[in-house]
Amino acid sequence: MDRKSFVVALDGPAASGKGTLGRLIADHYGFAYLDTGSLYRGVARRLLDAGADPGDEAAAARAAKEFSLDQIDGRDIRTREVGAAASKVAAMPSVRAALLDFQRRFAANPPGGARGAVLDGRDIGTVVCPEADVKFFVVASPEVRARRRWLELRAARPSLTEREVFEDLAERDARDAARADAPMTRAEDAELLDTTHLTIEAAFAAARRVIDGVFQRCEG
Ligand code: CDP
Repeated sequence: MDRKSFVVALDGPAASGKGTLGRLIADHYGFAYLDTGSLYRGVARRLLDAGADPGDEAAAARAAKEFSLDQIDGRDIRTREVGAAASKVAAMPSVRAALLDFQRRFAANPPGGARGAVLDGRDIGTVVCPEADVKFFVVASPEVRARRRWLELRAARPSLTEREVFEDLAERDARDAARADAPMTRAEDAELLDTTHLTIEAAFAAARRVIDGVFQRCEG
């Protein structure tokens, strides 16, 4: 009996719907879920809290090596400043290297004895888990992504405009796609899931069809 963990990789640009989808998939199949963006955001948050420059690679690499998820318990890592700083530290090879093992261990040995794991990020299907059982590249138009993220952020910051969010996302996506180390890119074997015109339920149903198909092939 094959006891290998079943891995679902979800990659794609900022605010494309990966997080919502990832949690739904994990709940539905009883898998563990890891938002890998929270690792980069966590490192960025630590640097900002310490008054360090997020562009300082030595400081960022130290923070990444010492990083654990409990450090961000209760901390707000979803702000636009943290998002921008996260994408800067994420371009540093030493930071990525320091966070890689944790992600791979999570996928191979999901916590709580779960029989599978869902990881969302930018390089899961290409670098972290190239052998993932199912891969999705989740996209949506820049306008729709900006609107979704603006709706999320504006409660905490009512003066924020949709235009500012649009520009933040465009800047982050460009940096994430252009970096030399593990750039955001669609793995050749990733299913493209465009959520521009899909409700969450419809996107989830589309993902389930793909995953169930792979399950059937595994069992058959
Ligand atoms: O939630 P959102 O889509 O805005 O971004 P996130 O997933 O929280 O990721 C924040 C930043 O971390 C991204 O802009 C990337 O620069 C970086 N990241 C990465 O480089 N690789 C990953 N696997 C996940 C995130």
